[in-house]
Amino acid sequence: MSFLELHRVSKRFGDHLAVNDLSLSVAKGEFISFLGPSGCGKTTTLQMIAGFVDLSEGTIRLDGRDLASVKPAKRGLGIVFQSYALFPHMTAAENVAFGLEMRGVPRAEREARVRDALAMVGLEAYAERHPRRMSGGQQQRVALARALVIRPNVLLLDEPLSNLDAKLREEMQIELRQIQRNLGTTTVLVTHDQTEAMALSDRVIVMNNGRVEQIGTPEEAYERPASAFVSQFLGKTNEFGGEIDRVSAPPRLVAGSCVWPAPAGLSGQVTIAVRPEKIAFGDEADRGVKARIAARIFQGNHWLFQCETECGPAIVIRQNSGPAQPAEGANVRLIWRAEDMGVRPREGAQ
Ligand SMILES: Nc1ncnc2c1ncn2[C@@H]1O[C@H](COP(=O)(O)OP(=O)(O)OP(=O)(O)O)[C@@H](O)[C@H]1O
Ligand SMILES: [Mg+2]
Repeated sequence: MSFLELHRVSKRFGDHLAVNDLSLSVAKGEFISFLGPSGCGKTTTLQMIAGFVDLSEGTIRLDGRDLASVKPAKRGLGIVFQSYALFPHMTAAENVAFGLEMRGVPRAEREARVRDALAMVGLEAYAERHPRRMSGGQQQRVALARALVIRPNVLLLDEPLSNLDAKLREEMQIELRQIQRNLGTTTVLVTHDQTEAMALSDRVIVMNNGRVEQIGTPEEAYERPASAFVSQFLGKTNEFGGEIDRVSAPPRLVAGSCVWPAPAGLSGQVTIAVRPEKIAFGDEADRGVKARIAARIFQGNHWLFQCETECGPAIVIRQNSGPAQPAEGANVRLIWRAEDMGVRPREGAQ
């Protein structure tokens, strides 16, 4: 079943462990993303799949074959590097055609495929341009066309959209997803942009410090983060200090003036995590966390509220629809459904 398989892969640079015991199995046609902060080992992992960086430990298999003895050029990969190096002396069309020439594709077919690939990334009109006369975003799209045109087994993309402005970036994300779906190309994307990873991928691999923190669908990683790191990296999260009271019967989870039934398997000091969009405003009658609206910021389709609560600062996001929103200075209660709160042992507590 697994098409691309990384088994216990590590990479050491001197005494720095850039990638630490990473295992992952990618199905044919799947779109996965490596997501994590700068320096966490994303590019290094991609370069090991590409064959430009040797593994310190572990194995990588593609379609059942150990890649250790397969040269980069023979792996059948389409690659867009983080620095989208195009050949400067070649036009966009020549850049895209290069891989096809290497593979001995006849001229007529080559020209048709180059045209198609440039059209896919919206650059039909730029075929005869040289990279130095193109913007960063245009060059990035040529690099994408160049990777796609060879119809690779696996498409490896390292921050391929990082130079595009927000609007074009969003358009290209939709485009990329569409292209990937149509061609069914197994795709590995590297990004530090969590919305991009979540929008595009079947599964995300959240990395931190060379280690995998979580592998899962975007919804799983967002709704059920495996660690505090994942929770904080994938969007905004509120964290409140709480305590499990096992003296009472039945045991309770207490935070400020609020109590909930205690979750199983926890005791002592805990952290309660709630996403800002899961919080609603209630009044005195709702026994929620006591809060005051410190600031109310209009963001078009939603409002962002900065609140001071009895359990520390919190942010709340409410859609710009439905009931009137509380004003700055208003006293409110913050309420949420028990299933929308994550409770974990407090880091550093006994
Ligand atoms: N050739 C190298 N020699 C020594 N250390 C390296 C080398 N390449 C990468 N590193 C180190 O390995 C770690 C991981 O680097 P990598 O390029 O994989 O990070 P990244 O997740 O892609 O980050 P970014 O988002 O900034 O591109 C970093 O600490 C980096 O300094
Ligand atoms: Mg990188």
